[in-house]
This record gives sequence, structure tokens and C-alpha cells, in this order.
Amino acid sequence: MIAVYPGSFDPITNGHLDLIARGSRLFTRLIVAVLENAIKEAPLFSVVERLEMLREVASPFPNVEVDSFHGLLVDYAVKRQAGVLLRGIRAISDYEYELQMALMNSRLSPGVETVFLMSSEAYSFLSSRLVKQVVSLGGNVSGLVPPVVEKRLKSLVARSV
Ligand code: PNS
Repeated sequence: MIAVYPGSFDPITNGHLDLIARGSRLFTRLIVAVLENAIKEAPLFSVVERLEMLREVASPFPNVEVDSFHGLLVDYAVKRQAGVLLRGIRAISDYEYELQMALMNSRLSPGVETVFLMSSEAYSFLSSRLVKQVVSLGGNVSGLVPPVVEKRLKSLVARSV
């Protein structure tokens, strides 16, 4: 069974990495897919930078591939012959958004199932948005993001002062 784990990953956190590790044990192949044409706020890292960081942290997992996609997620999943969309749920506040997306995706492509994994407790408060905010205000995010991400975040902050 091939699964797609989609997201913005701007940047990847240890919560995402935990899901990649667990997903890699559940599925034959896991495709981590970065959305290219996000409608939300301007990303901090370009798609190319996000792919580089993801590829580095996913390299220990032989059945994990990192890719990007544009357009509808279900079209991408069908193109990659994936039957599952993998998503993580942290708190109840994630549930409504995730339910909406899962139901819309199921309507668009009934053959593609969304599978949810609960975030590990250690990362249930963690988000890329908060990481960016903390870093921009001079806070320490060590242990919350992979070292490669921490290094890039620090160099961005150093360039902006
Ligand atoms: O990590 P994010 O930003 O919450 O991920 C959101 C993502 C990429 C999964 C979602 O925005 C998405 O699937 N976008 C592709 C467009 C699409 O298929 N929309 C219709 C289904 S809701």
C-alpha cells in the first residue's frame, strides 16, 4: 500500500518527522508531498528549500520518498497510485479542518482513504507556525525541529538583523 503524506512543511518539525517514521512502518511506500501552490500566507522557505530539508531528514527511511505537487491532492495521489492520504491530528482543534478535508477528498476521489495518526504526546503542541514565531522573536527551538532546520532558521534570523 502506497501512502501520500501531504503538507506545507514550512518548515518540517519533529512532529512531522515522527509521523514520517511511524508512517514508514505502516505503509510499503510513503511519499511526503509538499504543496507548491499554497493559498495561505507567503511561506518562509521556498519549495526547493523545504524539499532539501525533507530529503535530508527522510534519508534514513529507505521506503520514504520526498516530492512536491500542485493542484488537487487526490489527483496527485491517483497519479502516484497511492490509496491512502496520511495526516496527523494533534488536538481536537485540528479535527474540524481535517474532517472537512478528508470528506472533500473522499467526495472527489472515493477510492482514496484518509488515515489519521494521533501526534505523539511530546509533539502535540508543536506547529511550523509557532516554531517560526518563536525563532523570529529570538526563542530556542532546539529539540523541536531537526538540526538541519534549526541551522537554516538561525541563518535566516542572522541575515534579518
Ligand atoms: O500542512 P497543511 O498546510 O495543513 O497541509 C494542507 C494540504 C497541503 C494537505 C492541503 O492544503 C491540500 O491538500 N491542498 C491541495 C489542494 C486540494 O486538494 N484541495 C481540496 C481538498 S481539501
